[in-house]
Amino acid sequence: MLILGLETSCDETACAVVAVENAASERPRGRALSDIVHTQAATHARFGGVVPELASRDHLQRVLPVIDEALRGAGVTLDEIDGISVTRGPGLIGALLVGVQVAKSFAFATGKPLVGVNHLEGHLLAVLLSDDAPAPPFLGLVVSGGHTSLYAVSRIGEYRALGHTLDDAAGEAFDKVAKLLGLPYPGGAVIDSLSKDGDRRAFAFPRGLSRKRRDVFDFSFSGLKTAVATHVASHRDDALPDLCASFQEAVCDALTLRAVRAAKHAGLTQLVLCGGVAANSRLRALAHERCTAEGIALFLPPPRLCTDNGAMIAMAGASHLARGERWSEPSANLSADPGWRL
Ligand code: KG4
Ligand code: ZN
Repeated sequence: MLILGLETSCDETACAVVAVENAASERPRGRALSDIVHTQAATHARFGGVVPELASRDHLQRVLPVIDEALRGAGVTLDEIDGISVTRGPGLIGALLVGVQVAKSFAFATGKPLVGVNHLEGHLLAVLLSDDAPAPPFLGLVVSGGHTSLYAVSRIGEYRALGHTLDDAAGEAFDKVAKLLGLPYPGGAVIDSLSKDGDRRAFAFPRGLSRKRRDVFDFSFSGLKTAVATHVASHRDDALPDLCASFQEAVCDALTLRAVRAAKHAGLTQLVLCGGVAANSRLRALAHERCTAEGIALFLPPPRLCTDNGAMIAMAGASHLARGERWSEPSANLSADPGWRL
C-alpha cells in the first residue's frame, strides 16, 4: 500500500510517500519513494531553541509545497495514494494543528482514509524502512530533542514504557550544553563533530541517577548540564573538544548502560536506537560495543531516519490503516494531542 506521511510536530515540515509491504503483519517493510524534510533550524537558531509561534507560521507556509514535492518526487498523484498518516502528538500544539488540519482537508477532499499517529511510534518504527530491520519483540530507545524513553515493543502497536527521562531529554541536554559552550543550535551534531578531536576521559562528568540501581531505567540529564556549566565557569581555558567529548561520553554511557540493562531485564535480545540523538556517532559506537558484549542484536537506522521525517509517520500509519483504523471512527479523537503518551 502507498501511504502519504505528514509530520509537523516540532521544527521540521516533513512529508514522504512510502510503499509498505505486509502492512498488517508483524514484519511490515517500507520503502520511501520520496522523503522531503524542510528544517526550520535556521529560523530558530538565533533564539537558541524552538520558538513555537515561529514554528507554526513556518509550517503553514511550507506544508503545501512540501507535500507537493513529496508527491512529485515519488511520481504519484494523490489519487494513487491508499491512505494518509499524520502526527497527532506529542509536540507543539500550534505546529501539530497545521499538519492535522491539512491532512484532514486532504482526506475530506479525496475520500482517502486517514489516521493520526503518535510521533514516538513513528520513531520506533522508522527502523522498518531500513535495509536491516528487526521483527518484534525488540527494545526501542527513543532519544530525541523532546524525548528520552525506553519502550518494550512486543508487537507492532503494543508498546510498554520501561523508563523515561525525569528532566531534560538527551537532545535537549546536547542543545543546552552547546548553548552554554557558545555553539550554534541545534547543538547535537556540532558537539558530535567537535568531540572527534577531544579526549572523552578528560573530565568525569556525572552520569545522572545511581548506576547501582539495576532495576531503574529512567534517565536524568539536568545535573550533568549544571556540572558542565559549573566546570566551564571555573575552567575557562579547557579545550572545547575535550569538554564536548567528556559531556557526550556521560550522555552516551548513561543511555547505553540503561538500555542494555532494560533489554536484559525484559528478556529482549534486540535493541533499536531511534530519534535525533541516535544519529550520534559515539552513541552508535558505544551501543555496538555493549550490545556485542551482552549478545544483543543492535539495529541502527541510518541518521536521516533517526531525525524527524515523514517516512516514519507513514510507516506507523500503515499498520493502523491496514488494521482498518480510521480517524473518522467515533472512538478516535479528531484533534491534535500535544501531550499524548505512547
Ligand atoms: O528526533 P529529532 O529530529 O526531533 C525531535 O523529535 O526532538 O531530534 C532532534 C535532536 C536535537 O536535540 C539535536 O541536537 C539532536 O537530536 N541531534 C543529535 C545529533 N543529531 C541530532 N544529538 C547528538 N548527536 C548528533 N549527531
Ligand atoms: Zn522526533
